[in-house]
Amino acid sequence: MTADLAGRAKELREQIRYHDHRYYVLDQPLVSDAEYDRLLRELEKIEAEHPELTTPDSPTQRVAGEAVDRLKTPPGWLPLRWRKVEHRVPMLSLGKAMSEDEFRDFDLRVRKSLGLDKVVYVCEPKLDGISISLRYENGALVRGATRGDGAFGEDLTSNVRTIRTIPLGLSVKAGEKAPALLEARGEVILAKKDFADLNRRQEEAGEDPFVNPRNAAAGSLRQLDPRITASRPLSTYIYEVGECSLKFKTHSEKIAALQGFGLRTPPSLRAEGADAVKAVYQDMLEKRHAQPFEQDGMVIKVDDLDQRERLGQVSRSPRWAIAWKFPAEEEETVVENIDVQVGRTGKVTPVARLKPVLVGGANVSNATLHNEDELKRKDVKIGDHVFIRRAGDVIPEVVAVIKEKRTGAEKDFVFPGQCPVCGAAVVRNAGEANHRCTGISCPAQLAGHLALFSARTAMDIQGLGDKLIIALLEAGLVKDVSDVYALNLEKLLQLPRMGEKSAQNLLAQIEKSKKTSLRRFVFALGIRHVGEATAKALAQAFPDVKSMYEAPSEKFQSIRDVGPEVATAIHQFFQQPQNRAVIDRILASGVTPEPEKPPEAGGAFSGKTVVLTGGMSSLSRDDAKAEIERRGGKVSGSVSKKTDLVVAGEDAGSKLAKAKELGVKVVDEAEFLRMIGK
Ligand code: IVH
Repeated sequence: MTADLAGRAKELREQIRYHDHRYYVLDQPLVSDAEYDRLLRELEKIEAEHPELTTPDSPTQRVAGEAVDRLKTPPGWLPLRWRKVEHRVPMLSLGKAMSEDEFRDFDLRVRKSLGLDKVVYVCEPKLDGISISLRYENGALVRGATRGDGAFGEDLTSNVRTIRTIPLGLSVKAGEKAPALLEARGEVILAKKDFADLNRRQEEAGEDPFVNPRNAAAGSLRQLDPRITASRPLSTYIYEVGECSLKFKTHSEKIAALQGFGLRTPPSLRAEGADAVKAVYQDMLEKRHAQPFEQDGMVIKVDDLDQRERLGQVSRSPRWAIAWKFPAEEEETVVENIDVQVGRTGKVTPVARLKPVLVGGANVSNATLHNEDELKRKDVKIGDHVFIRRAGDVIPEVVAVIKEKRTGAEKDFVFPGQCPVCGAAVVRNAGEANHRCTGISCPAQLAGHLALFSARTAMDIQGLGDKLIIALLEAGLVKDVSDVYALNLEKLLQLPRMGEKSAQNLLAQIEKSKKTSLRRFVFALGIRHVGEATAKALAQAFPDVKSMYEAPSEKFQSIRDVGPEVATAIHQFFQQPQNRAVIDRILASGVTPEPEKPPEAGGAFSGKTVVLTGGMSSLSRDDAKAEIERRGGKVSGSVSKKTDLVVAGEDAGSKLAKAKELGVKVVDEAEFLRMIGK
């Protein structure tokens, strides 16, 4: 029986690996998501029941383990985050060619050293990411490390394992064996589209967006918690091997082998002689904006590996390869003015208003100066001649000031102390690079705040969606979130395309939202860094919102999971008279946030893990969750052997099935209501 199961588990692992490869590497999925989930669930079930059948390369094991603790270091030392690993074959860097002449010089040196008239090269995009080394032993991924200084890198295995383009096990043809050792080397990147998605998510969560895909990839890879890395859409291209038990004759052969093992490789084009290389370069340059990834040049490598051996290296760069950079998309223009822009999350960014100029085919009239430190570092003044750069789809930025062109008439920019949009204080907290507007009713932030305020997990005002929010703001009917409770039929009917029926429905929803819980209310305030979990912790620590007004920062910091940065943000929020006034108005309009009841000691669900599935007619999922938590229980999203109880409402699906399979106790809605005494 176990032998059969072991066979089935192996088969499932192979199938899932195959579909992962089709989906993530080749971008050609063969099966539906549901079909894929079915395979994964079957494998999870076998492994849950027979842990001995779980293998480290199983697709169920991508996020294994918890966050790594900082390694313990003696007092006064800097914390060492990651274990150091040695690259026995050093990871080299590349020499650069900034022009065709410099590339021709390279070709000449290569031909001379080899005594050849023409050399066969391979041309690859120069990807702008983080270089990485992946060590496979007998086909299994055992280590993922950064380049570091080339001789020693950092062991990021647990994070690297979460990247879906990286197979945990190499694919090998039937009857063949995986190589004893293969160290695959390449680049971790964020594709342009994934970068845009990630930044959208960051902004929605009230976090700062990343400046460019490279920074975002680096930051995502170096997370202490692999679950965060797993949530970032990182991907890879593999273009070299380091230590390896296989022998190849050419780079092209090596790339084909890497591809065969299921690794994603970049386009690698053979070109005979310098003229052919130039043609490939021109083609790549023309198509750079159409590529899914950022590319800042083309890497040219000698194809024949014996020839590489003969050429050797100088200092840390091989003589057999060069990076021919693309011309930077930079142009000169004049800074006509500098002002600040207030983002949806309250971030205040200095922006240079430019004399319009064409950069890489696009007309540019604004460039970001990022923050005060960047502005000072670059020493940009109003009236300066500057170079601006447009890198891919990223916002144009000021690269440098042309100081020789200064006349003395240039003016310094002074960071405003007040928000230009709402007049609230603009602050820069210690340790932070950005200034922020602290006003709760700032119109720039208001649209975003209203969306959060009305969200299902906050005040739950159905019908108050994005379109209506914009209409309300444009009509001037809402100047801060408290105005939602001052809306009436007459006001709503002023809005374009608003009928009486919809207006009545909306008013009913607004009325309903007045009965709420303290945690929802605190979350709805949109305090920076305060998500649902922190809002809940605050609601448990204070009897009501007014008692948060005068609490010192330390009081917030004493709450579990609230660090100094978050405590400061909360404290500052309640210090603003403007914010208190808004809260007071909301409360005065009849909103009654019910205090959080402490969990009942020995409550009906004390110490139990409960899973909710399907719909219930008498209470919402969120309310059911609150009832369980109030009685000392924990609500989890998925059924496992550790689940104590499944509450199955109408149309319960796979979770109910799984509970039955695992023999977990299941109750229906009526039984659940009895358990909570309703
Ligand atoms: S080959 C000795 N190929 O550029 C050759 N590198 O400055 C080692 N890079 O650290 C690298 N795209 O992170 C190679 N197609 C490509 C590349 C590439 C980007 C990066 C790599 C390396 C840096 C060298």
